Amino acid sequence: MIRGVSIILFIVIAITYVVPTEIAAQPFGYEGTQVCGTCHKTEKQGLQLKIWQESAHANAYKTLQTPEADKIAMAKYNQKAVDSPGCLKCHASGYDVADKKLIGAKFKVEDGVQCETCHGPGSAYKTLKIMKSKEESVKNGLVIWKNDTEIKTGCVKCHNPESPTYKEFNFDKMWAKITHPVPKG
Ligand code: HEC
Ligand code: HEC
Ligand code: HEC
Ligand code: HEC
Repeated sequence: MIRGVSIILFIVIAITYVVPTEIAAQPFGYEGTQVCGTCHKTEKQGLQLKIWQESAHANAYKTLQTPEADKIAMAKYNQKAVDSPGCLKCHASGYDVADKKLIGAKFKVEDGVQCETCHGPGSAYKTLKIMKSKEESVKNGLVIWKNDTEIKTGCVKCHNPESPTYKEFNFDKMWAKITHPVPKG
């Protein structure tokens, strides 16, 4: 009898403590390149922030603010390019997140194709403690790739003929333009 009660009690306690943390699990939020850049900007880390700032990806949203972009969007969607989800989906991130709690104070949609567009929203993996462990980072939303074939699959989600201005995508040449490794040693 007492044993039965303590088993039930154990189950009740187990449910109380295990379930809430699972319910509390939130989707990951966007932080913005400024947050990633606080650490990923040094020579030792590999200058990722600078490489990105000098890449076309940093201008992808600004490109949508040009008359040329509006002309394409008007013809296709009868509205401005920055108002068209059909353009934003390859030129920006975070614009479609309704829950404002998932948008960090430093996030800017103007960052265009930014760190988290490729690496996943960083609210949970951005701390030094988690970043230092690849395993923990991936558990907390960091996207990484095993090899060039997987990387290329990621690129052609946008670099494909659905782009109204599509130019042939040469992976080796294009990856060489934006690669940003952590220096070895
Ligand atoms: C508090 C500092 C810090 C912040 C903020 C930070 N990182 Fe990191 N990140 C690190 C450190 C340290 C490493 C480990 C680097 C190494 O291997 O030397 C790392 C590793 C990485 C890696 C490589 C993972 C692997 O092992 O392949 C990626 C990708 C990455 N960070 C992306 C980001 C992105 C995107 C953001 C913004 C959302 C971000 N980081 C924010 C410190 C930070
Ligand atoms: C979310 C969509 C998206 C993804 C994913 C993406 N790109 Fe891009 N990329 C763009 C857009 C949009 C532009 C055009 C930006 C502009 O000019 O305003 C662009 C432009 C570029 C350019 C400059 C064009 C040129 O001819 O020099 C390079 C290089 C490039 N991307 C490489 C890559 C590589 C390599 C990958 C994969 C690792 C990749 N991109 C993944 C959207 C994307
Ligand atoms: C499937 C992804 C995708 C979609 C959707 C998309 N773009 Fe792009 N856009 C790209 C990429 C990638 C580039 C880089 C050049 C290329 O290879 O197409 C680019 C480049 C551009 C450029 C610069 C062209 C140049 O020659 O440098 C303009 C302007 C543009 N896009 C406007 C738009 C507009 C307007 C829309 C919506 C009607 C749109 N894009 C939808 C992926 C996309
Ligand atoms: C167009 C997609 C794209 C964008 C934008 C991008 N990355 Fe990456 N990043 C990659 C790919 C692909 C790799 C190589 C595969 C890997 O190491 O996981 C990579 C690798 C890394 C690495 C690990 C390098 C290594 O040698 O282990 C770090 C750190 C990193 N990125 C940080 C950033 C930061 C910070 C930003 C923004 C300032 C950023 N990335 C923007 C696609 C991107």
